[in-house]
Amino acid sequence: MKTIIEPFRIKVVEPIRMTTKEERRGYIRDADYNPFRLRADDVLIDLLTDSGTSAMSTAQWAGIMRGDESYAGSRSYYVFRDVVADLFGHKHIIPAHQGRAAERLLSMAVLEPHHVVPGNTHFDTTRANIERAGSEALDMPIPQAADLDLYHPFKGNIDLDRLEAVLAELGPERVPFVLITVTNNSGGGQPVSMANIRGARALCDEYDIPLLLDAARFAENAWFIKLREEGYADRWPEAIAREMFGLADGALMSMKKDAFANMGGLITLNSDAWAQKVRNLLILTEGFPTYGGLAGRDQEALAVGLREILDEDYLAYRIASTEYVGRHLSEAGVPLLQPIGGHAVYVDGRRFCDHIPDEEFPGWSLSVALYEHAGIRTCEIGNVMFGRQDAEGDAWHWPTLDLVRLAIPRRVYTQSHMDYVVEALIELYGMRREIPGMRFTYRADVLSHFTARMEPVRETVPV
Ligand code: F0G
Repeated sequence: MKTIIEPFRIKVVEPIRMTTKEERRGYIRDADYNPFRLRADDVLIDLLTDSGTSAMSTAQWAGIMRGDESYAGSRSYYVFRDVVADLFGHKHIIPAHQGRAAERLLSMAVLEPHHVVPGNTHFDTTRANIERAGSEALDMPIPQAADLDLYHPFKGNIDLDRLEAVLAELGPERVPFVLITVTNNSGGGQPVSMANIRGARALCDEYDIPLLLDAARFAENAWFIKLREEGYADRWPEAIAREMFGLADGALMSMKKDAFANMGGLITLNSDAWAQKVRNLLILTEGFPTYGGLAGRDQEALAVGLREILDEDYLAYRIASTEYVGRHLSEAGVPLLQPIGGHAVYVDGRRFCDHIPDEEFPGWSLSVALYEHAGIRTCEIGNVMFGRQDAEGDAWHWPTLDLVRLAIPRRVYTQSHMDYVVEALIELYGMRREIPGMRFTYRADVLSHFTARMEPVRETVPV
């Protein structure tokens, strides 16, 4: 059979409240033209993020009932710890309430102002936490990643030549660890090859520097390795994941993605000294080290999710369904980042809105227009998220890519939802010149996209 079906049945449903274009125009205006400020009930199809938005399985809900809420030494912690230890293979397993908590704890425990943390592309909260510690977050994706149209099977790879140069120049005194994000979310959900991780490992060994993984989407990365890297076609995703983790000295993970849970995070470490420091900070702000800000029931759901995510039928369906959306949009000429990523399709904001200059935020403007047009909420990963102004507040520096991400929640939407998304975007592409640019009316210093207030540069043209 050519048709890849959703490998699950639906037992509980959540109604979607239909809205009109007129209503949505009011909602987004009241939200200061920032999709993050919308009420989720006013959204038809929510592709803002794949994070914490998964549908849990019957087995996960059963785990919720098993949760042990003891303050210390809860049974659920041991269930969680054993599953994580078995897969990751690192010595210390430390729960945290979500990914950025893990980032903050590690950053505070380990980083000093003269430090530099190289990576393929740091996620925005990772970068912010590194910078908050006074250190520098250095992105070094392979050069091919900047070319939207270029097909490269592992466009998420770290540039090993640049990494070698930086490690040689700065050494272990300035580089406390290297962090590789799998898959590379800010770089378009692109995978990192095993050969690349192995190459980074060899360089880290040479300079005696630990290698860590940001493992938010490790299972999708493992599946891409199986599909695209020589020698892995016959391997189980679980074995591939083990090999990835085995090359690292530890990992940070937002478990809101590839653990099918609505909340959760994780730090795994081999270093006793770092683990001790992290646990001491954890007690201060997150909770006792056996729960780290999570309920026992969350840890049960995470333990089940971490196993379910590596199911071959699920991963085949997952990657094929993202690719399905991408393929249909590409065929209609909608400019996308190629190849299609694992958890999301990334639309090229600059080319979609080629009448809108960088200063008026083409990607952001597109995401507002797509909400007005069809009630679809997406996330800009571009000029608003990463654009920086000079200290004097005049000249802007724009990121290489101004993307709009259609992130697909796991096991939540069906193929007809995706067909609706495809139809809406193609329709909007046909009338793209009517999309107005945007400008800030309020902008915060850090993570400014979450709280930004915007307004159209000119009156919204009826679309
Ligand atoms: N690392 C990566 C690669 C991520 O994608 C995220 C979150 C985090 C760390 C932080 O984890 O949200 O649990 O605190 N990404 C979400 C997204 C928010 O929409 O891509 P968190």
